[in-house]
Amino acid sequence: MEKVVSLCKRRGFIFAGSDIYGGLSNTWDYGPYGVELKNNLKRAWWQSVVYERNDIYGMDAAILMHPKVWEASGHVENFFDLKSDCKQCKKRFKDADLSDKKKCPECGGELTEARAFNLMFKTHQGPVEDAQNVVYLRPETAQGIFVNFANLLDARHPKLPFGIAQIGKSFRNEITPGNFTFRTREFEQMELEYFVRPEKSEEAYAYWVNERFNWYLRLGLKKENLKQRPHDKTELAHYALACTDVEYNFPFGWSELEGIANRTDFDLKQHAQASGKDLQYFDDQAKERFYPYIIEPSGGVDRSVLAFIVDAYTEEKVKDEIRVVLKLHKTLAPTKVAVLPLLRNRPEIVELAKSIAADLKKNIITVYDDTGAIGKLYRRQDEVGTLYCVTVDVQSLEDKQVTVRDRDTMQQERIGIDQLKQYLLTKLS
Ligand code: GAP
Repeated sequence: MEKVVSLCKRRGFIFAGSDIYGGLSNTWDYGPYGVELKNNLKRAWWQSVVYERNDIYGMDAAILMHPKVWEASGHVENFFDLKSDCKQCKKRFKDADLSDKKKCPECGGELTEARAFNLMFKTHQGPVEDAQNVVYLRPETAQGIFVNFANLLDARHPKLPFGIAQIGKSFRNEITPGNFTFRTREFEQMELEYFVRPEKSEEAYAYWVNERFNWYLRLGLKKENLKQRPHDKTELAHYALACTDVEYNFPFGWSELEGIANRTDFDLKQHAQASGKDLQYFDDQAKERFYPYIIEPSGGVDRSVLAFIVDAYTEEKVKDEIRVVLKLHKTLAPTKVAVLPLLRNRPEIVELAKSIAADLKKNIITVYDDTGAIGKLYRRQDEVGTLYCVTVDVQSLEDKQVTVRDRDTMQQERIGIDQLKQYLLTKLS
């Protein structure tokens, strides 16, 4: 884990938030490679969940919602952890993490009785800070979908089963954030709410557990590092009938990447009751009006990014040296191609390399780098997972060919400059 954290900082994937002020604990900023990886991951999710299907619609709801949403959803009443404070060192602990409920695990001081601590961030809308103006930062994106259920029915007239997908920020005032970006107070979720007839919910639940598990495999996570863990009845959230986690074998142990839950008709019924709006689905063939059940695959963007980096991180021995290479799937790799001049003091080579890079950039995420010797440039690109390095050398000026090096095999091939873009596009497709 330390190696991954260090690589993330050194190469510009993830920086500590507000670093120059000593950092704001457990906040993280994504740098140039991190933002590309994160965007590629979100795009891959959207591609498989929205674009490749006919039954799922995308949306993007506001983070701030009417406070009644969180009363109806049960979050005001049920979304809390039990916490204890140390009377001596004032540190705060999640009750579930304490083996001895009386003694501080850090300083041995006396702990307070466990008290409920609501995880929602509270703020005020507008200039007046009173109880009338309280709003919450959403702790899940899902509610933005539920409150738009009737709007979507009116706008698109979908037939069951159908889904609504959304990617966005969520906030939870976690008592014990940690493990780098794994548990933070601000994070992004990729959530799908899939509406089905109640009698079809078990079948749809099994389908989505499988489908989501396989999505991680398709994007290259190693099978031995991924598992499904069905929840015991005692761990289920207040709205869930069943839930299975997709877990990844992080260096700190098996931990949740995504939860797939059967939320039943809980949310739609709650919002219908609290808002007075009809949120039932009308089946015009069966002439039936009812509340659909909801199957919800809910994944964390930041956790997935971390899992993909950890899984891709590889150290290989090459000629008595250790090569660090990030073997990310081609869909996720932040940069696909790097163009490198072999001799940076030869203007004709530099000029040719720059013009090749400029042309590739129109179709492929490409970087140009001439800031070091070739060995160093290769190492740098390997560490950030660049799939192909294109080297321009003296011979390129004459034979109009370049050397293309494959990140994983390190094999090199001479390719004509006029064939290069098509060659790379084929490899990357
Ligand atoms: N709408 C259902 C829901 O929010 P959840 O299991 O609480 O369910 C879903 O969260 C996913 O969101 C988790 O599997 C995880 O990937 C991500 N997530 C939840 N809390 C997080 C946190 N504090 N930091 C980072 N990711 C988090």
